[in-house]
Amino acid sequence: MSIHKINVKINGGLEQVEVASNTTLLTMLRDKLAMTGTKNGCAAGECGACTILMNGEPVNSCMVLAVEADGAELVTVEGLAQEGELDLVQKTIIDKGGVQCGFCTPGILISTKALLTRNPHPTEVEIREALVGNLCRCTGYVRIVEAVKAAAEQQKEAA
Ligand code: FES
Ligand code: FES
Repeated sequence: MSIHKINVKINGGLEQVEVASNTTLLTMLRDKLAMTGTKNGCAAGECGACTILMNGEPVNSCMVLAVEADGAELVTVEGLAQEGELDLVQKTIIDKGGVQCGFCTPGILISTKALLTRNPHPTEVEIREALVGNLCRCTGYVRIVEAVKAAAEQQKEAA
């Protein structure tokens, strides 16, 4: 198996990482860079716990090879808070009680961030569609959807 040196921008910082040709982005983040905020729920593209942004688009990092990310810009859950201040979606998901075990939460936050960037005023249907790839076995989604609505509202007020 060949080893490759790749360059990625992660949460604004440049990283050069050595990865095997079959290393996934998820494994690179967790095992090579100790960025364990991104979760491994299924390693099969089913649960969305491993969702990160790659060049602004949400992807299941368990389904992307690290070598495919050479030159890409990545955002993980660790990149949401800025200067010690939680991102709006992190605050509202806490305020609305949209977290129970928390395993799905990093992926939900990243998918929400992508949604509110491309569509700042989503309907409930659009919110549910945006989160369709993020499975949560605890909350029943109602509070998560409320949190996304609240983040959209507060984002509008702040604009
Ligand atoms: S761990 Fe990637 S989709 Fe489940
Ligand atoms: S809070 Fe437990 S899986 Fe979503």
